Amino acid sequence: MTVRRSVVVGVGAALPRDRVTNEDLVRRGVDTSDEWIRQRTGIGARHLAGPGETTVSLATEASRAALAAAGLAADAVDMIVLATTTPDETFPASATQVQAALGIHHGFAFDVQAVCSGFVYALATADNFLRLGQARTALVIGAETFSRLLDWNDRTTCVLFGDGAGAVVLTARDGAGTAADRGVLTTHLHSDGRHRDALYVDGGPSSTGTVGHVRMKGQEVFRHAVNRLSEVVDEALKAAHVAPEALDWLVPHQANRRIIEAMGRKLGLPPEKVVMTVERHANTSAASIPLALAEAAGDGRIRPGHLVLIEAMGGGFTWGSSLIRW
Ligand code: UT7
Repeated sequence: MTVRRSVVVGVGAALPRDRVTNEDLVRRGVDTSDEWIRQRTGIGARHLAGPGETTVSLATEASRAALAAAGLAADAVDMIVLATTTPDETFPASATQVQAALGIHHGFAFDVQAVCSGFVYALATADNFLRLGQARTALVIGAETFSRLLDWNDRTTCVLFGDGAGAVVLTARDGAGTAADRGVLTTHLHSDGRHRDALYVDGGPSSTGTVGHVRMKGQEVFRHAVNRLSEVVDEALKAAHVAPEALDWLVPHQANRRIIEAMGRKLGLPPEKVVMTVERHANTSAASIPLALAEAAGDGRIRPGHLVLIEAMGGGFTWGSSLIRW
């Protein structure tokens, strides 16, 4: 049976110029140490947006790189979904500003907000539009300037996050309806709003009229992340009828090395099959998975035909996974 699939034809990324190590944070007055941050999180450095660098500018740069990798002109794109928690403005959607910056004057563009799970949500959304025939080529972006939500006096959160953007180009193609097809094979999304207090921002346009700062109960988030991610990874493998051994790559959300390693162990994957960028990028929220995909596809690790599993969990709580045949 012929089915329509959303096939990844290009991926790109962008990072702010300023690279800030753990030692730099100590020098800037954060009450922490390189040893603590590395031991608890695996983070060694992060990129932080400077003047003139915004979610839209990073998203636009990543999108241009993804289109170049796909060998496509911008006007081939008829849908843009941008996952972000840190839009340039409350409105319009950052996706429409990326659309304008790329010179695209047709189709439609909108943002999705699922914090660290945002890219998985955006990918699932675009996949559904493509499979229904309501768009043909989609730009799916995860872009964040999370540093602008940080309280630099709160060492339990400010050392964890970084800024950046990644984008993939998806094109609708026909497949045979099996797990051998190229394209997005499964998407599973979940949320449970009862956990709002574990990870949130203490501000917003309708409550305080301010942007607010990130607040997190780290241990509670950690515990839920390991359990929920285990479930949603099993869900993906079952739905596609594939065994963990069939996976070529696990590309997880990059929040904490310990969570990533736990997921790799659960799947029985050797560490070299788990893409890990948290050491150099820290947690870039919705941008972390497409940044990692861009790196691993760019250096030739992920190749056409490979089976890639992505998963993420974030504020809400939200969580999700997707299996993609590259
Ligand atoms: O992307 C969204 C999903 N987010 C996540 O998945 C994050 C999940 N959570 C985590 O990654 C971890 O819980 C953290 C990395 C946030 C924290 O690690 P932890 O091992 O759970 O540490 P903790 O919160 O239990 O804190 C241990 C100690 C505390 O000191 P006491 O009370 O034991 O004396 C903290 O005050 O570490 C202290 N501490 C720090 N010390 C130096 C907390 N932050 C820092 C810091 N530098 N930056």
